[in-house]
Amino acid sequence: MSSTLRLLGISGSLRRGSFSTAVLETLAAEIATTATTEFADIGALPHYDQDLDGAASPDAVVTLRRQIDAADGLIVVSSEFNHGMPGVLKNAIDWASRPAFASPLKNKPVLIVTSSPAFTGGVRTQQQLRETFASTLARPVLTPEVVIGQVHTKIADGRLVDRASIDFAVTACRALFAEIELLRR
Ligand SMILES: Cc1cc2nc3c(=O)[nH]c(=O)nc-3n(C[C@H](O)[C@H](O)[C@H](O)COP(=O)(O)O)c2cc1C
Repeated sequence: MSSTLRLLGISGSLRRGSFSTAVLETLAAEIATTATTEFADIGALPHYDQDLDGAASPDAVVTLRRQIDAADGLIVVSSEFNHGMPGVLKNAIDWASRPAFASPLKNKPVLIVTSSPAFTGGVRTQQQLRETFASTLARPVLTPEVVIGQVHTKIADGRLVDRASIDFAVTACRALFAEIELLRR
């Protein structure tokens, strides 16, 4: 790796004490020698409205698009709501996805991590995110698919503390770095 990578972290939760945010922040710290991670504020985004989307998009939208554009890659961590991705996350991806097929997401490497207190670890969100990012022409890391079940038992003091989960997710971060290098060539 020739230089420090710039990543954008997106948590699919607005909740104080979010397990998704804890996982994201833990990963950012674990990979800090290779990458610096900025964090998106998707709670500042309005509901998607095509009437607002254009030359004068809302400030929070402009900021998100700039952050994605400036990043070498994304790390998205999310739980699952009613067998799907949380609406706030879908809203953020929809804003980021315009203009269609020429948005900052085009060719952007994305690591997808899901977690949930359920045994299934948000696996349905994992699949939905892959489908949605395919539509934006982003480049989700194909493997490994990081799914962390029973996440509430693996968090302490706002950090992921389960060593096996951390190691697995860091392996996936290395796959993200490899994808970034590949697409730079
Ligand atoms: C409206 C709602 C629906 C939920 N549906 C699911 C679900 O379908 N599958 C699941 O694994 N967890 C489900 N959960 C539990 C969430 O995964 C859990 O609250 C998780 O901790 C939320 O993510 P966060 O900690 O990052 O805020 C649901 C929670 C809420 C509030």
